[in-house]
Amino acid sequence: MGSGELIVLDPVTRKPSATGVPAEQAADLASYPADQAVTDVPDRDLTQAELEELAASIAQQPELWQHHVAFDGEERVYASLHRDAHVDIWLLCWTPENDTGWHDHDISSGAVAVVAGELVENNLTLAEGARETRVGAGRVFSFGPDHIHRLNGAVHGSVSVHAYSPPLWRMGQYAVNDAGVLRRVSLSYADELRPID
Ligand SMILES: [Fe+2]
Repeated sequence: MGSGELIVLDPVTRKPSATGVPAEQAADLASYPADQAVTDVPDRDLTQAELEELAASIAQQPELWQHHVAFDGEERVYASLHRDAHVDIWLLCWTPENDTGWHDHDISSGAVAVVAGELVENNLTLAEGARETRVGAGRVFSFGPDHIHRLNGAVHGSVSVHAYSPPLWRMGQYAVNDAGVLRRVSLSYADELRPID
């Protein structure tokens, strides 16, 4: 290489991703089996492709999460569906006001399956600022621990299933200090992500 350019591989095809924005590579939920139980997964940390398949399968089993669906314009509603040594799975319910702010997932890879409404994912470019991608119901995407993003609901009533491996423990929240310098704040996964800027 020698150019200093980072080559981003598509998690499923292992070929260079054209855009480097995972949400732009979102797949159809229905292209994955709908009958996977969390107990079916291997007893180790999951790959990004395995996480995408798991999130897609749980998303297609509403009996596992439907009873948690609720919305709050002030606080994002979330429920833990499963947590073990290798993976955790969450249901998140979004309104347009529920904005995570910029964050990373420390050492975890993740997958997001949208089951209702639409999510807005933003990725940050140094040259052009935020790059917005919309992910509608019926789509799933995944990302590695290198991923930094910001999510909110595009519409009231948006619902998504998220899977992380290893389980979320720490997260990085990004903020700009008084001098305009970007900094990272390490949070516990139990702390609420909020936009700071
Ligand atoms: Fe995230």
